[in-house]
Amino acid sequence: MQDSARVLPEQASTIAERVDTLYGLLVAMTAVVAVAVAGAILLFVVRYRRTRDRRVGDVIREPLWLEITWMIAPLVVWLSFFAGGATVFFDATTVPPGALRIDVVGKQWMWKMQHAGGQREINHLHIPIGRPIRLVLASEDVIHSFYVPAFRIKRDAVPGAQTEVWFEATKPGTYRLFCAEYCGTQHSGMTGFVTAMTAGDFEQWLSGSLDAPSLPEQGRAIVSRIGCLSCHGERSTARGPALEGVFGSTVRLKSGETVVADEAYLRESILVPGAKIVAGYENLMPTYRGLVGEEDLIKVVAYLKSLKREERRP
Ligand code: CUA
Repeated sequence: MQDSARVLPEQASTIAERVDTLYGLLVAMTAVVAVAVAGAILLFVVRYRRTRDRRVGDVIREPLWLEITWMIAPLVVWLSFFAGGATVFFDATTVPPGALRIDVVGKQWMWKMQHAGGQREINHLHIPIGRPIRLVLASEDVIHSFYVPAFRIKRDAVPGAQTEVWFEATKPGTYRLFCAEYCGTQHSGMTGFVTAMTAGDFEQWLSGSLDAPSLPEQGRAIVSRIGCLSCHGERSTARGPALEGVFGSTVRLKSGETVVADEAYLRESILVPGAKIVAGYENLMPTYRGLVGEEDLIKVVAYLKSLKREERRP
């Protein structure tokens, strides 16, 4: 069908049909109620109009069962929509395990994608079909919103935070990508494409567009460039805690509390080092906000996640 003749965009993800079904049912049910109410008003206007012999309305007493029925019936109908909506919502927001992670950074006015293998893209994302894709969104400046109508997904990219959205494409093709949050003068130009490919084509595309080392390797280069290891390195005077094996571990803090070192903790420790001081260390580290942009932060965190404790020299 021609794009201009479509009421709804193409359905190209596993969730798309369920979203549309729910939406269609809601519209249909709302239409039925609207027609019924408007029809009843018109009917009653004619039937119970004031006449010469009936200047005051009759007092009508409905039977109790009727009162109860027309309260309970709509309640059941509308609560079933709530149940249906909640089910779709939870499935649409719960990332399945084993999803392929791709980092996306919004910036005035472009979308920058980073594949784990180091492949980079701007305003054009390539993904395989038949596999859950987990997009981790960040923003370098203002709020943007990653919107692919054909997949029925939309999620804000918020400065200072990471958000996530997932989908599974069902058929190969190229679909429109939009920014759905007004983000400045060229917001309307912040568009692009998502190309869904078969698994084989995607592998081929990945190997054909490899022009950079993997994300952890790029992260390692940044870590040595900005000098993290002068305090966190093996031969340091231990001004800062070691980086190996930190990710996923439980860290004891100076305040006596403990935290699990997840991705949010690593990001915070780079951008706001004073927020959580590890037990046994002083608050010496300056903030790296502004020195490490969102794209570099993704690489540094990927590098830190790749550092296992076993690799540490005794
Ligand atoms: Cu980015 Cu609108």
